Order: sequence, then structure tokens, then C-alpha cells
Amino acid sequence: MEDKISILLTEEEVDAKIRALGKKISEDYAGKSVHLVCVLKGGVFFMCELAKRIDVPVSMDFMSVSSYGNGTSSSGAVRIVKDLDEPLEGKDVLIVEDIIDSGNTLHYLVEILYKRNPSSIKICTLLDKPDRRVADVNVDYVGFAIPDKFVVGYGLDYAQKYRNLPYIGVVEL
Ligand code: IMP
Ligand code: MG
Repeated sequence: MEDKISILLTEEEVDAKIRALGKKISEDYAGKSVHLVCVLKGGVFFMCELAKRIDVPVSMDFMSVSSYGNGTSSSGAVRIVKDLDEPLEGKDVLIVEDIIDSGNTLHYLVEILYKRNPSSIKICTLLDKPDRRVADVNVDYVGFAIPDKFVVGYGLDYAQKYRNLPYIGVVEL
């Protein structure tokens, strides 16, 4: 049976926001280059679109993490499933995430990546659920703050489905 999905943010709204984020990032990194780090798999759609809207030199790398424990709420510590291909030493790193929920994943990720001596680390997320935050994370760029609802599309999945939707929708559970 198909799930019922209602649109929360249209394709046009998401595209406009990504352009605005790209402009802001380009201004903030003027005269430098930015090393985008994508957290797979959810962040990949957003990162590719964002990269196209940044006009300083961009490099990209990818990693995949999984949280210890099970279920839908992450416990805290994360395990690296696929590490980055390149060192971060001396780079201006921008972590690109699909959504920040508890913040646990990013809290641990930032801790791990800081040990690799980048020049800087910032965080950019398409979506933020501020009501759900438990870990302390400093998010530099937020596309949209959204209510505590389970969303899909633009890289976000429900049981690995719906990542390819060009908009952000809410699954009616
Ligand atoms: P947290 O910030 O460590 O709690 O976990 C964030 C991760 O949980 C995200 O990167 C997503 O993979 C997943 N997640 C959280 N909320 C949602 C949602 O509404 N839809 C789909 N995935 C979600
Ligand atoms: Mg994610």
C-alpha cells in the first residue's frame, strides 16, 4: 500500500532556499575554497544542489555513519561506516546534512572531524527540528526550521523510500 504524503515544502521553495544558502556561503567564504562533507545518504541531494549555487572553489567528499543502538532515536555515539577519502588538514570544511533532529549524530561527527586539524568546520543543514535537540551543536546555516513531524523527500527516507521526491513531504502515519 502506498503511504499518504502531504507536501510541507514545495520544490520551488526548496530550490529558492538552496540558492539563498549558496549565495550566503559564497559571501562568507569569499577568497577561500570550501570543502563540502556530505553525510550519506540523506545529504546527497541537498549537497549536489547546494554545490551548484556556490561560486567559490568547491571540493566534495562523502562519509557514512551509523548510530550505535537501534530504533529511530539515535543513542549518541556514531560509528564510521564509510570514511572520507581525503584528509581535512588545513581545509575549510562545511558539513552538509539533510536534517538535524536530536543533534547526536553531528555532535559526535564534529568531535571526530576536529581531530583531523581542519582550518575550520561549519555545519549546513537543509532542515532543522529544533524542538527535538538534545545534543549541543552549533549550526551555521539552516534552510528551514520545521515542526516535529517525520518528513521525506530531497534525500530523506522512510524505510529507504521517497528519497527521490523533489519536495519535502510529511508521511501520514
Ligand atoms: P540526529 O540528529 O542524530 O537525531 O539524527 C539525524 C538523522 O536522523 C538524520 O540525518 C536522518 O537520517 C534521520 N532523521 C531524523 N528526522 C528524520 C525525518 O523526519 N525523516 C527522515 N529521517 C530523519
Ligand atoms: Mg542524515
